[in-house]
Amino acid sequence: IGKEIVIYNEVESTNSKANELLKQGYPSGTVVVADRQTKGKGRLGRKWISPSGKNLYMSIALKPDIPPKYATLLTLTSVVACTTALRRYTDIPVMIKWPNDMLIDDKKIGGILTEMKIEGEKIKSAIVGIGINVNMTEEDIPEEIKEIASSLKIYRGEDFSREILTVEIIKEFDKWYQLLEKRQRKTIIDRWMQLSGTIGRQVKIVLADREIVATAEAIDEEGRLIVKLNDGTYEKICAGDVTLLRA
Ligand code: BTN
Repeated sequence: IGKEIVIYNEVESTNSKANELLKQGYPSGTVVVADRQTKGKGRLGRKWISPSGKNLYMSIALKPDIPPKYATLLTLTSVVACTTALRRYTDIPVMIKWPNDMLIDDKKIGGILTEMKIEGEKIKSAIVGIGINVNMTEEDIPEEIKEIASSLKIYRGEDFSREILTVEIIKEFDKWYQLLEKRQRKTIIDRWMQLSGTIGRQVKIVLADREIVATAEAIDEEGRLIVKLNDGTYEKICAGDVTLLRA
């Protein structure tokens, strides 16, 4: 990971750029970093606020040697790597919210958007896009998301180096990605659970056709969230929007 690192001032989205480079023949593990994005993408078709000079926007282009069944695990692996790097560099107790949000005091400071192309029984390509709010201030955060978003700087009151953080994430990513390719799924899931602020909490989950309130119990081998409903039954959640409810 990171043998090739390509740095831009401005791109539409580092994910799209990383995908282009992979198609042009750049190797698996190529990292794209940009100072700002004009069309930063979030999960579920949302946009990702990407001002210049403040935050970290990076994408890692991969050709993962894992069965498509474990595709979600790639995102969990990525969030474990990022959270571990963030904790080491900043000493802030960053937590993970399923599947891939990074939170401080229940406010989001980072997220991951994985875009994959699957053909038959192979993952042809995977772009892991990482966005972290590093030095954004309250003024930089749009009114609509002030309640739910934050940054390292807002929490700690001081600036952090995007460069150091980028290097730390690449190092950590390299380590966890190797474990994934070596099928060390339990190690990854155990670490995810350790870093998770979701497990044990009451959560509200918005699914395509309904909403449920339940207790988050665990994640399984394929990265699905296992929740216990109030009637004692269990459900496995593959995709959806999770809100942590206050105790
Ligand atoms: C989320 O919705 O939580 C995921 C946000 C992912 C944002 C990052 S920023 C770098 C990369 N390029 C994009 O366009 N999106 C991801």
